[in-house]
Amino acid sequence: MKANWDGPKWYIDTHSGTGFTQELGVKIPGSALRALKHDFDKFYFYEKDVGHFETLVETIDQETERSMSHGEIPDEEIPMAYSEDGSVKVMNMDCNSGVTYLAEHAGYNSHWFTFVDPERLTVERELIERLCRRGKMDILFNFQTSAFERNGSDAADHAHAKVASNLGEGFPVNGSAEDYVSYYQDDVFGKMGWKSVSRRMESERSNEWRYDLIFASKKAVALKIIDDIYTSDLKNDVAREVREWRAKTDTGQTGFGSFVSIPAVDGEDNGQASLFDFEG
Ligand SMILES: C[S@@+](CC[C@H](N)C(=O)[O-])C[C@H]1O[C@@H](n2cnc3c(N)ncnc32)[C@H](O)[C@@H]1O
Repeated sequence: MKANWDGPKWYIDTHSGTGFTQELGVKIPGSALRALKHDFDKFYFYEKDVGHFETLVETIDQETERSMSHGEIPDEEIPMAYSEDGSVKVMNMDCNSGVTYLAEHAGYNSHWFTFVDPERLTVERELIERLCRRGKMDILFNFQTSAFERNGSDAADHAHAKVASNLGEGFPVNGSAEDYVSYYQDDVFGKMGWKSVSRRMESERSNEWRYDLIFASKKAVALKIIDDIYTSDLKNDVAREVREWRAKTDTGQTGFGSFVSIPAVDGEDNGQASLFDFEG
């Protein structure tokens, strides 16, 4: 982004979580805490769950230099929190309406990095199309491949309306995992004139849960950089980090004030279990 854009840089997180997340049974910083270490001018965090929202605000307040205050979005009665310097805003709302609103009202002088890390099928196709129409951003989408494969099967026709709201009416019923990923890349990003690269990921303990990191951009250089990271560094980087956090947990030297470790739940696979043991 720095190489391509001199103006303001914003980070948008559609599904922000609580600030920490879990990999291989180790509690590590999640997307929000990671992003806050980077040199963005503004940060917009969206989190629908009120408990997660409260935890996230408290975590930002405790784990970073930023001091957070609570408020409401004017006239909307939607809880939000903001940092004293105004650079961080956390909204307790559905990203589909919240981020659409931001895309329509925030002006065009900033370049965005938009991270979409959903739980289940919670990203309306309309939101992604709205973001593509705004342009001036790169999008990293943690695409829930297995969720689409299962809910898009013949046996799950009760879920097809939900799948269609995420993928569009023409989604491949009974498709393979590859069908859903390539459909999204071609039919959603491609039709908006965007290019994308994707990386297959699988959960640690089984190949029963697959997701794909789809990175979409209009900048060939950004696509090239991410593709290189996907194929060369990603797996080793994640493995190294998890090892480091495990060591810190064992010695109690966490580097984060309120850090505690959470043991893995045996046999549980919520689809977010690991970035570690993916194929390829
Ligand atoms: C996979 S977690 C996010 C993890 C986070 N990105 C991280 O790296 O730590 C998904 C989060 O999205 C929230 N969520 C689910 N549906 C949402 C929606 N429509 N809008 C905003 N947040 C949503 C959930 O409450 C949950 O905290």
